[in-house]
Amino acid sequence: MQDYKDIIAEILIDEAVLQKRVKELGAQISHDYEGQDLLLICILRGGLVFLVDLMRHITVPHALDCMALSSYGVGGRASSGNIRMNLDLQTNIEGKNVLLVEDIVDSGYTLFHVLEMLETRRPKSLKVCALLDKEERREIFVPIHYRGFSIQNKFVFGYGLDLDEYYRNLPFVAVVDLEKYQPPAA
Ligand code: PRP
Repeated sequence: MQDYKDIIAEILIDEAVLQKRVKELGAQISHDYEGQDLLLICILRGGLVFLVDLMRHITVPHALDCMALSSYGVGGRASSGNIRMNLDLQTNIEGKNVLLVEDIVDSGYTLFHVLEMLETRRPKSLKVCALLDKEERREIFVPIHYRGFSIQNKFVFGYGLDLDEYYRNLPFVAVVDLEKYQPPAA
């Protein structure tokens, strides 16, 4: 894979700004759920890095679970609206305060389907925390209770978001230079 430095058009959100906002979100969540238990659900894989940082700023008692989804249909685009569950939760969420943690909301279809599915399991509450919100790409309404940043419709990577599964480890969110990025051969 190419060095990340060679494929960055711009750093959209640098590490200091990101960490400051993650800390603020953690404080807000801790305040809102004071005196209650919480279950954080990570939607793999993009939400992983954000969740790991976020949970260290959440001071109320909380458990963690993960689920994995994939999209299929036309070109495998999430916005096709066809979402398949590859890994289900290990936790019974009935009666629990559930907070879904996502890296990015784009068309909204992934979150829409997850919320619809989890609502049938009768949680006490079900909310969403998303680091990035590409509002102009939305095709279906989804509630976002905790939002890190609203961003423009740019092709971003880093801090959990991948380019062909790489670069999730970068501590910032960057815009890819599509003229320089060479996807790996299939
Ligand atoms: C990304 C992201 C969201 C979804 C958002 O996941 O993590 O789950 O797309 O898109 P949508 O709002 O259009 O549904 P992706 O399918 O890229 O998988 P990943 O999390 O494993 O990178």
